[in-house]
Order: sequence, then C-alpha cells, then structure tokens
Amino acid sequence: MIVADDGVIDIRNVTKTYATRDGQCITAVRNLHARIEPGQFVFLLGPSGCGKSTVLNMLAGFEKPTDGEILLSGTPIGGPDSRRTVVFQDVQGSLFPWMTVQENVEFGLKMAGTQRRTRQARANALLSLVGLQAFSSRMPFELSGGMRQRVQIARGLAIDPQILLMDEPFGALDAQTRALLQSELERIWQETKKTIIFVTHDILECVRLADRIIVFSRGPNARVLRDICVPNARPRNPMSGAFSDLTEEIDLLLHTPGTSARLERALNNS
Ligand SMILES: Nc1ncnc2c1ncn2[C@@H]1O[C@H](COP(=O)(O)OP(=O)(O)OP(=O)(O)O)[C@@H](O)[C@H]1O
Ligand SMILES: [Mg+2]
Repeated sequence: MIVADDGVIDIRNVTKTYATRDGQCITAVRNLHARIEPGQFVFLLGPSGCGKSTVLNMLAGFEKPTDGEILLSGTPIGGPDSRRTVVFQDVQGSLFPWMTVQENVEFGLKMAGTQRRTRQARANALLSLVGLQAFSSRMPFELSGGMRQRVQIARGLAIDPQILLMDEPFGALDAQTRALLQSELERIWQETKKTIIFVTHDILECVRLADRIIVFSRGPNARVLRDICVPNARPRNPMSGAFSDLTEEIDLLLHTPGTSARLERALNNS
C-alpha cells in the first residue's frame, strides 16, 4: 500500500522545554513548524544553543516534544526506529572500537537478523560508495577522522533508512577533509536520494550543499528566523554571485544585533 505522506516529516507547532537539575525550566525551541519532503537536503542553521541538536534528537526519537508533535509518514514519532539513523560529530567515540570497519558497517544488519552473505555484500557496496573498500579489515583506531566519519555514514546507510540525521558531522575535521567529505556527501545524497537533515553553524557548508536552509534565532526560546529554498544548480561555485549573495544574506540575518528581539516582538504582535 502506498501511503500519501510516505517519508514526509511534519513538524507541527513543536516546543521543547527541559527541566534543569536546579529546578528551572528552559525552553530550547518554541512553536516550530516545518514540512520536509522525501529526498530533501535540509540544513538546520543557527548560533550555539539555539536548539539544533534538540530538534535533531526529537526527529531521531531520542527526545519528545513538550508541546506539538512530529509526524513521520503521517504518524507521530514515538522513539528511535530503523527509518532514521544518526551520524554524530564525535569522530573518536562513534564507532565500536573492538570491531573492524566491515563489522561496524554490518552491525545494524546483524541486529536485524540479516543473513551473513547479504550483509557482507551490502557492507562492501557501502564501503565502496564511501571510498573505503580497501580498509574493510582495519580497526577504527587505524583510521583518520575523515575516514571514521565515512564509516559512520556507511553504517548509517546500511539499514537503508529513509532519513539520515547528521549533527555537525564534519565539525571536528580540518578544513581540507571537511571540503572533501562535503563533496562526497553531496554525491552520496544524489546517488541514494535519501532525505538528509544536517545540523551546522557553518554558513558556507549550508550554501554549498543545501536544498533548503532553516535558520534559527538565538536561543533560548529559539524560533525559525527564515526558511530558505536554495535553487542554485550543483555543483555550486563558491565564486559565483548567487553563492556569495546568499552567504551574505544569511550572515546578516544571523549577525545583525537585535534580530531575535525584533522577531520576538513581531511574533508577539502578530
Ligand atoms: N538535556 C538537557 N537538559 C537541559 N537543558 C538542555 C538539555 N539539552 C539541551 N539543553 C538546552 O537547550 C538549549 C538548546 O541546546 P542544543 O544542544 O539543542 O543547542 P545547539 O543549537 O545544538 O547548540 P550547539 O551549536 O552548541 O551544539 C540550550 O540552552 C541547552 O542548554
Ligand atoms: Mg548541538
């Protein structure tokens, strides 16, 4: 049966409030709305503390909204499941250190009871997709940071999720490796047609890769400042006028003093 909303993420009026250990309440994000279509490459952008990881964790099912709801394919997200996988920033601790690269990539399939031959074939194909077929029998400690992130991506894709959630996955890498992995991720996205939701505070990363950029105001009480569709063709040329215009526009949006306060007043008066 084909579900009309298959793969659609519908964020409906979501607010997330945390209780802190000293008995206070902190509202990270407030009244978020967004509809994310299957196959979109969406960036969540904003200053530190604006709630990007909070939103990603709710999408993963690690956290629940305090108010509102998030639907996936028409039903509320109740917890983590195999339709979504998460790639974390932590290049050191994110892989199982006692398993080879191949075993790490096969892990989710093994848990799902997939036969050995099938999971080996799938892991081989994915290691080839991320350019690591020659490293399948290495241990994680023998890899560079960029290679570990590629293994994480292959491991995330192994169970064939609809959605890949990425929380600053390249944040700890040097500039050159980061640029290389950005190109690779763009190619992987084009080949796999997965929905990717990518958290960053790097404007250039967004403008280089995104279909759509959801810009958050400063937190707490963060809201969506702008939801920008990026129509520019790929691969994008950072020297082009369209690229630098959009970069400048977002930079102004994030760094103009009082933007959040003005937004707050406008929303309260609307
Ligand atoms: N488990 C928690 N308990 C209490 N407060 C939390 C918790 N997790 C996040 N917060 C608070 O929610 C707000 C948003 O945090 P979050 O980690 O989502 O921001 P972020 O945009 O991902 O920041 P960064 O760019 O620094 O990673 C912050 O004020 C943070 O202190
Ligand atoms: Mg974060």
